[in-house]
Amino acid sequence: MTDENALLAKALARAPLTRAETAALLSVKNPRPLFEAADRVRKAFVGDGVYLRGLIEFSNYCKNDCLYCGIRRSNASARRYRLTPEEIVHTAKKAAGYGYKTVVLQSGEDPWFDADTMADIIRQIKTLDVAVTLSLGEKTREEYAAYRRAGADRYLLRIETTDKALYEKMDPGMSWDNRVRCLCDLKELGYEVGSGSLVGLPGQTTESLADDLLFFKELPVDMAGIGPFIPHPQTPLAGETVQGHFELALKMMALMRLLLPDINIPATTAMETLHPRGRLLALESGANVVMPNVTEGDYRKFYELYPGKICTGDTPDRCRGCIQAKIESIGRTVSPVYGFHGDYLKGKK
Ligand code: SAM
Ligand code: FES
Repeated sequence: MTDENALLAKALARAPLTRAETAALLSVKNPRPLFEAADRVRKAFVGDGVYLRGLIEFSNYCKNDCLYCGIRRSNASARRYRLTPEEIVHTAKKAAGYGYKTVVLQSGEDPWFDADTMADIIRQIKTLDVAVTLSLGEKTREEYAAYRRAGADRYLLRIETTDKALYEKMDPGMSWDNRVRCLCDLKELGYEVGSGSLVGLPGQTTESLADDLLFFKELPVDMAGIGPFIPHPQTPLAGETVQGHFELALKMMALMRLLLPDINIPATTAMETLHPRGRLLALESGANVVMPNVTEGDYRKFYELYPGKICTGDTPDRCRGCIQAKIESIGRTVSPVYGFHGDYLKGKK
């Protein structure tokens, strides 16, 4: 057995992997056996059903200035928009009408939406018989508690990178310790917690990506969203490359599936910007969630985190049909359940 095969066998047996072993698996020259192993584990632990989450990008105002992000506050050429609470609830109703069992509310860190306003929006959406996932960035424990009391079920907050120095360089003015505090608060408050990494940041090493995976296992997360970094032309990282980011992100997803076999792993939208079958390849390498955009009209293109975002000219209705057809084309199905962590193992498919 080669070293690579022995390591893969060790990961499959769920024996603890060291940082160096994890990094070695992320560096394999031929990742096919890793992808195939992740696909088998995905089938055994979360089944063939794919959970769809309807994503509402409700504001692109942001008080932060992350170097990689197209909606950072210093990007004066970003066209800013903010949906009203009524528009957000209306969009959520439409999402429920398309059959989504989860609505994800995502925005920049926009202080216009205070805790009471958000809680009110959440309460109204919860009457629609959907799970509510939030992705609003770093908030106080009290704010997270208020959203939870209003009925929010899940929260997504990527750590982006566990390399503290790199994080604080990429996210000026932000504190890595505070981001970890947020994740711990969210867990303690009973949220299903999703975190994740940006793969391909300048200066990021395979060792630090290995640390990310071990961090997610340690927390542990209920969901891990791994996305390739794609440089935005109006940011300080405009000149960076995307070379190798797609395959590395796919390896991260696959290895995540081996380390935490029953969690939810989205086939992230950015994967499809880098490869026309990006989300399908992710679904065949460990992923089991897709988050189609249900934001309407021009807002779809104004929420431009990175260039080449897919489906910006489409309607939510068309995206819903399109993604279902794609999922079925690889022999998978759209699951009709809420899709909480562990649902499949509890017999909910
Ligand atoms: N403000 C919230 C937060 O910080 O979690 C949610 C919105 S934020 C734009 C969502 C995610 O977009 C980030 O966690 C980051 O990983 C991703 N993102 C930002 N810029 C990106 C880029 N240039 N390429 C790929 N993903 C990017
Ligand atoms: Fe705030 Fe990207 S810098 S969402």
